Amino acid sequence: MIKFVSPPKKSLKGFVTIPSDKSLSHRAVIFSSLANGTSVINNFSKGADPLSSLAVCKALGVQAEFKNDDSIEITSSGILQKPFVSLDCGNSGTTMRLMAGILAGQGFKSTLTGDESLSKRPMRRVIEPLSLMGADIQAPNGHAPLTISGKKLCGIDYVSKLASAQVKSCVLLAGLFAQGVTSFTEPYLSRNHTEIMLKYMGADIRTEGCTSIIKPSNLSPVNIDICGDISSAAFFIAAGLIVPGSDIILKHVGLNPTRTGIIDVVKMMGGQLQILDETIKSGEPAGDIRVQYSDLKGCVIEKDLIPRLIDELPVIAVLATQAQGETIVKNAEDLRNKESDRIKAVVGELTKLGANIKETPDGFIVCGKSPLTGGVQVEAFHDHRLAMSLYVAGLICDKSIGINGFEWVDISFPEFERLMNNLC
Ligand code: S3P
Repeated sequence: MIKFVSPPKKSLKGFVTIPSDKSLSHRAVIFSSLANGTSVINNFSKGADPLSSLAVCKALGVQAEFKNDDSIEITSSGILQKPFVSLDCGNSGTTMRLMAGILAGQGFKSTLTGDESLSKRPMRRVIEPLSLMGADIQAPNGHAPLTISGKKLCGIDYVSKLASAQVKSCVLLAGLFAQGVTSFTEPYLSRNHTEIMLKYMGADIRTEGCTSIIKPSNLSPVNIDICGDISSAAFFIAAGLIVPGSDIILKHVGLNPTRTGIIDVVKMMGGQLQILDETIKSGEPAGDIRVQYSDLKGCVIEKDLIPRLIDELPVIAVLATQAQGETIVKNAEDLRNKESDRIKAVVGELTKLGANIKETPDGFIVCGKSPLTGGVQVEAFHDHRLAMSLYVAGLICDKSIGINGFEWVDISFPEFERLMNNLC
């Protein structure tokens, strides 16, 4: 589907309630499936990815009932059942990598499958630590489908070269079912939702610096309130900063420090952003964010900042086109392994719009400030975050643009366009 985006006739003004966090929704449904009893998840995401996690858990014998539009009850015996079908993770890397950790230690065989994009994404990063724990996983060339024959696992102390919350969560979840203690050490801290939620559900888990340590534990059912997704808010933050005259407030956004790299970048760029009304929701910090149109300057984004904003880099590239001077993104080579090769894709598509942006092996360099020119068609490459980043770019082009494959936004943020339109 081609979506045409035109620059708005006026500034963006008003409030947006940012929909549910995707990472937290996955974890809430998966971890509740491991608890004996009924958990209630409030503000569960309507994105296709968390729904893939829900479908996989149901195929493993868990009961799920929507109580109203966005509240869901998960009932489980705490013991997963052998599935009769292969477990379809759709487009969701989080579903596949977290479930691999859980299924490796169950008493049955199962197969995780994914769509075309997910079947090209690297799975050796989870197969390697799981195999060291004693798992039996067959995967053609390290890709999905993953056929997992459940085994008795042993705890390990795993030191990862990659700062990845999916790999960390996979190993920690395998550790829940393994004999002895499991630890996972990463070079920089990636998002720690797994650690927070498992602790909230009673697991024996602790963190020391960049190491998380877990012992086999039983999880208790809980009520979880999920905050808004800062990765979804990022598109509105960027739009508010670059559409002249804008002033918007984003409500109920998750502000876990392992996810707020975008806020640090906006501050480095000199953007006007304030946090209002901070609270804690089910162990996770949250609050409202106000952003106003700003003069921006380039900055360097690297090292420990990268895992804290990994999903925001495509829209940060758009922001950087409107910042004076150079913005350099380094140490982000794993962006090439996301739903698309996000380095190549964002550089190619923003170049079509007249941006001065160049690809590097581990990131990109943008030289601003450049006016963006419309009247062209760009490609979302089956990637939800690219589709929404290009939409934000379309808001400041001189003419409308067409985005091919815009329907992929449904993976994480089906409400995106309606909410954006409410501000225009
Ligand atoms: C996620 C972790 C990140 C992120 C993805 C969601 C998670 O992936 O890019 O969108 O929920 O754990 P990596 O762990 O592969 O960096």
